[in-house]
Amino acid sequence: MRKIDDCKIFGLTQIGDERGNLIVIEGKSQIPFEIKRLFYIFGTDSNATRGEHANINSEFIMICVSGSCKVRLFDGYAESIMCLKSPDCALYIPKMIWKEMFDFSKNCVLLVLSNMPYDAKEYIRDKNEYINRNR
Ligand code: TYD
Repeated sequence: MRKIDDCKIFGLTQIGDERGNLIVIEGKSQIPFEIKRLFYIFGTDSNATRGEHANINSEFIMICVSGSCKVRLFDGYAESIMCLKSPDCALYIPKMIWKEMFDFSKNCVLLVLSNMPYDAKEYIRDKNEYINRNR
């Protein structure tokens, strides 16, 4: 099986009521790892591409809590484009996947959860290096 097949979009359980919606992610509930870091990307130019890297140890969950964006995923062989456009949709990205986020809507807030604290040394930012390491 290709590594790209492990990149999956799945629905998050909502526990909202008549007042509105609520989604809770706590510990390992709903996602496959304990959260060590979260960051969010907003105010992104619609022509901008973010990411353009792979991570040796970090796994990610991406959730568009507002607006929409696309994520291009590449495992060294196959490519796949995922569209995130709902706050109850999560994209799981395992380690060692090349990712590029693009096509941000004006109101896009992309929430990213990770199993690892930030460590610049585990980022591969050269695509050719990524392809060579991955083969
Ligand atoms: P970068 O990885 O290029 O962001 P993106 O993947 O969203 O395109 O990071 C931009 C800058 O922010 C870079 O100098 C590293 C820093 N940064 C941190 O210090 N901690 C973090 O958790 C992240 C994601 C980035």
